[in-house]
Order: sequence, then C-alpha cells, then structure tokens
Amino acid sequence: MEPIKLNHPLIEHKLSILRDKNTGTKEFRELISEITLFLCYEAMKDAKLTEVEIETPITKTKAKQINENDYVFVPIIRAGTGMIDGIVTMIPNAKIGHIGLYRNEETLKPVRYYYKMPKGIENKTVIIIDPMLATGGSGIDAITLLKEDGVKNIKFLSIIAAPEGLKKMQEVHPDVQIYCAAIDEHLNDVGYIVPGLGDAGDRIFGTV
Ligand code: PRP
Ligand code: URA
Repeated sequence: MEPIKLNHPLIEHKLSILRDKNTGTKEFRELISEITLFLCYEAMKDAKLTEVEIETPITKTKAKQINENDYVFVPIIRAGTGMIDGIVTMIPNAKIGHIGLYRNEETLKPVRYYYKMPKGIENKTVIIIDPMLATGGSGIDAITLLKEDGVKNIKFLSIIAAPEGLKKMQEVHPDVQIYCAAIDEHLNDVGYIVPGLGDAGDRIFGTV
C-alpha cells in the first residue's frame, strides 16, 4: 500500500517549528500532539459508522457514531508515548497498548523489552504510533509482534518518515497502511532522518 502523506499548509507550518533545533520542550510536545491529531483524523477516514437515535433540543433524529472500543492505539516506547495526548483528544475512549523496543546503536536492529496489549486485541483495528520511521526496523518489528498475536487490521502513524524505511516496511508488511506528515530526503550513516528533527524521544522528554 502506498503511504498516505498529510498535505496541508498548517502541517507544513507546524513541521517547520517542530524541526527547528531552537524549539523548546514545551512547544515540541504540543506540536507532536497537534500533528498527531491530524494524523489520527486522516487514519479514521474509513472508520465504520453505526446509526443511533438521539434527541436534539428541537427533535428526535438519527445520527452516526463510531465505536471507540474498536480501536487500540499502540505507541512504541519511548517517543511514541508523546503522541498519546493527540490521540485521546480525538478518541477519548481509545484503548492503549504499549510496545517497548530500542535500537542497538551499532547494528541499528530493534530489541524488545516491553509488550502489553488490551484483551481481545485480535479483533481490533490496531494503530501503531511513533513519530519517526527511519530504517523501519522498530515499526516492522512492532507489526510482526502484533500479527503474531492475531491482529489482522494494522495501521501505522508517523510524523516524519524516511524513504528507505517506507520502502522496507511496504516490502515486509504490504497490508499495513502508513500515514505520515512528511517524507524526508534520506537517512544519514547513523540511521538519523535528514533533515528530520533529531532524536524525537530526547526532544519530547528533554533528555538531550
Ligand atoms: C526512535 C523512534 C522509533 C525509532 C525509529 O526511537 O521513536 O521508535 O527510533 O527508527 P527505526 O525506524 O530505524 O527503527 P529510539 O530507538 O531512538 O528510542 P526512544 O523512543 O526511546 O528515543
Ligand atoms: N529516531 C529518531 O528519533 N530520529 C531519527 O532521525 C531517527 C530515528
């Protein structure tokens, strides 16, 4: 599946501040949340609606609702947790699972250290959230784990993606729809996205 990239002047504007090395922790966190909100909006475009009867102050009428319980959002720890805020602003009852992976800095391969999902995950639409899709290693491994758990419907939300990681993820998991706010130029020789925004986790948590 081809990745879906947000295409809007507001996103470009917010990304320009997010990327700036002089942007501080508070604003960085807020921008991650705001951009996530738009990514979530886009990823929910095909959400199933159910007709419900409601009563406005004027009259009874039929309206449509999504079932918030059908969705589980899974941040990849650490940086992915910075996107939870934006998600729960849009879907306040969304269930949240967690996957902990880190990259071995020499091999660039992901190593798992935490995995906790809500019950019944196999029947949910699972939306993985991680601001950076670089080599694709963490995302690919997270998707593989979820598929091993029986999950059939998976989406992946990232803020900045590298062409190398997108290509690899499409090859390994062609059934997973990827959403992103930007597709950057390339990876540098230590696996960072260029121009990117630096280390997302460090900038969200102020550990620079
Ligand atoms: C970052 C990011 C992704 C991963 C992307 O996490 O949040 O999880 O790198 O890189 P990849 O596509 O090459 O796997 P990092 O490993 O820096 O950990 P952190 O979130 O704890 O900072
Ligand atoms: N992880 C990050 O936080 N930033 C990158 O550029 C690549 C991986």
